[in-house]
Amino acid sequence: MAKEKILVTSALPYVNGAIHLGHLSGAYLPGDIYVRYKRLNGDEIIYICGSDEHGVPITISADKEGVSPKVIIDRYHKLAYETFKKFGMSFDNYSRTSLPIHHETAKEFFLEFYNKGLLKEKKSLQFYDKKNNMYLPDRYVEGTCPNCGFEEARSDECENCGKLYYPSELKNPKSKISGEVPVLKETSHWYFPLGEFQPRLEKYINSMNEKYGWKDNVMQYNLSWFKEGLKDRAVTRDLDWGVKMPIKDVEGKVLYVWFEAVLGYISSTKEYSEKTNKPDLWKDYWLDPKTKYVAFIGKDNIVFHCIFFPAMLMAWNDGENEKYCLPQNVPANEFLNFEGKKFSKSRNWGIDGIDFLNLFPADPLRYALASNLPENRDTDFHWKEFQARNNNELADILGNFINRTFTFVHKHFNGLVPEQFNLNKADKDMLKLIASYPEKIAGYFEHFKLKDGTNEIMNLAREGNKYFNDSEPWNTIKTDRNKCGTTLNICLQAIYTLAELFEPVIPFSSEKIFKMLNSEPTSWKKSGSENLPAGHKLNKAEILFPKIEDKIIEEQIAKLGTDSSLEEEDLISYDDFMKTQLQVAEVIEADNIKKSKKLLKLKVRLGEGERQVIAGIAESYKAEDMVGKKVIIVENLQPAKLMGQVSRGMILAVENIDGKLEVLTVNKNVKNGTRVT
Ligand code: MF3
Ligand code: ZN
Repeated sequence: MAKEKILVTSALPYVNGAIHLGHLSGAYLPGDIYVRYKRLNGDEIIYICGSDEHGVPITISADKEGVSPKVIIDRYHKLAYETFKKFGMSFDNYSRTSLPIHHETAKEFFLEFYNKGLLKEKKSLQFYDKKNNMYLPDRYVEGTCPNCGFEEARSDECENCGKLYYPSELKNPKSKISGEVPVLKETSHWYFPLGEFQPRLEKYINSMNEKYGWKDNVMQYNLSWFKEGLKDRAVTRDLDWGVKMPIKDVEGKVLYVWFEAVLGYISSTKEYSEKTNKPDLWKDYWLDPKTKYVAFIGKDNIVFHCIFFPAMLMAWNDGENEKYCLPQNVPANEFLNFEGKKFSKSRNWGIDGIDFLNLFPADPLRYALASNLPENRDTDFHWKEFQARNNNELADILGNFINRTFTFVHKHFNGLVPEQFNLNKADKDMLKLIASYPEKIAGYFEHFKLKDGTNEIMNLAREGNKYFNDSEPWNTIKTDRNKCGTTLNICLQAIYTLAELFEPVIPFSSEKIFKMLNSEPTSWKKSGSENLPAGHKLNKAEILFPKIEDKIIEEQIAKLGTDSSLEEEDLISYDDFMKTQLQVAEVIEADNIKKSKKLLKLKVRLGEGERQVIAGIAESYKAEDMVGKKVIIVENLQPAKLMGQVSRGMILAVENIDGKLEVLTVNKNVKNGTRVT
């Protein structure tokens, strides 16, 4: 195939928190595998990404911590950068949307549309929080979806069914900031006429799909958007944080984060151009109609990359301007869940990339994620499966094949690649198989079937082990040294091929294997030929994939869901708490209850009256010890009957380390009936 010029982007992550495994397997690892494969293939390629530093998720995180958004983005940009580096992401550039070059690029696009008269200014009703005197961004409002009844829908979009609607259609709206019912207040925004672009967008997507075969899941999302009918979309927001509107006398508004974030791909490429002192480099890619542009994303980003961004580029290209290329493919992934449930920071469900990579090397994680990518449906990360992928596949299949071959060659052939003699059928078949692999795997990778490709590469290592076993070099070394050498030569050729084909998936290990082979990768195509000449000196072998012990995995599993931080919906309000009347009460009489070892019958004095409380403390206190104590009781508990006795209230107690109860008491100087607050 002729060499291609390829531009690859991965979704710019919001830096409002840490990158977790779900992110890595959605938009980053797939992009990296594809790019690494293409580089080995000899294509001209750049890989672009960066942090998405505007938008409401970031202001929410900042508000929660009571710091400025700048603090949040600086912290998490750095963390994202480190995570990606440790994970082996091979971006050519990783930028930030807070950089001036990005702000300029975004403003340039906005002004182009504005000056052309493409944007319509429209007044609309927006939720407004009266308590905090601010317009509420979509995500600060929660209500019931008018379409599917989902109760955590945003003001104009439902995460559950994907429906877009007007804020006035949302049922039971609530401000997430004050908890109050927000009012609808007039504001004015600029709208991009997305609807007008629908016919052209449909044509574009259908023709790309015909030529390049888009994924079914992606096409289905697109078709449902078209069926629904595209509507005008506001490209400005009432917010302080973001790219300021480049129009005079407009205050308190910024460009809608999605409008500018997608342009981050362009500004990041421009930044790369500057950094590398090649002023035209970004144009060589973005403005060349021959560029193959591939955008890696997760499914929640589909509409923005298949519809919104292309429409923006079409609008730009309509002018006198230079013409940008549109995505040729958008191989969006579904989601990765964690042990059967959604990742959730607050429920302590999942693990951040950086924490993972501080515990384990990147390659076992890359391999485990790659062999289980959510390409067609949501998949799950399981700790046990991760361990199995490492121990049973990387170590026992690939590592073992490499290790036994190297051990043999060092022991019996002085670490030199043995010569081949008189190939038999098994030898010839093995060489044929090796030779067929680069094309076979390319067939998967070209079509973004990265999961199947990965699993298929491991099959070559399986075949290698089988060939080794069937050839019995431990016998032939005694009976037919040439035969034995032939077997090992062919095993080494297979190891070379494996090192190269696995480079995109496990780059760190691939590098080690090449070092052991005392060799370097060749072009993808040639990686299935016999690349190691007889007599070539090998280096010493090293352990590639140490086994992961059960204990380590069990420790990780035990950590899950144990965090005491709760989801907001699990928390009670102050008012809820105040419903519980806790009061000081003095015990004036105490008796045992016949036939009960556990219960004591107490008479207590509150402010005015007296009442009977049955308490399960008989195993910890004698009746007479209780008299005179000032305890805390729940005053407004519904009455209950215990062993035929009425109890009106409950005494607070805690269990001590010996398993005995200790009743909470206060000093004599606190009056009976005093409320605990
Ligand atoms: N920040 C978005 C997310 O994490 C993705 C933005 S992709 C871009 O879901 F193209 F807009 F940059
Ligand atoms: Zn819905």
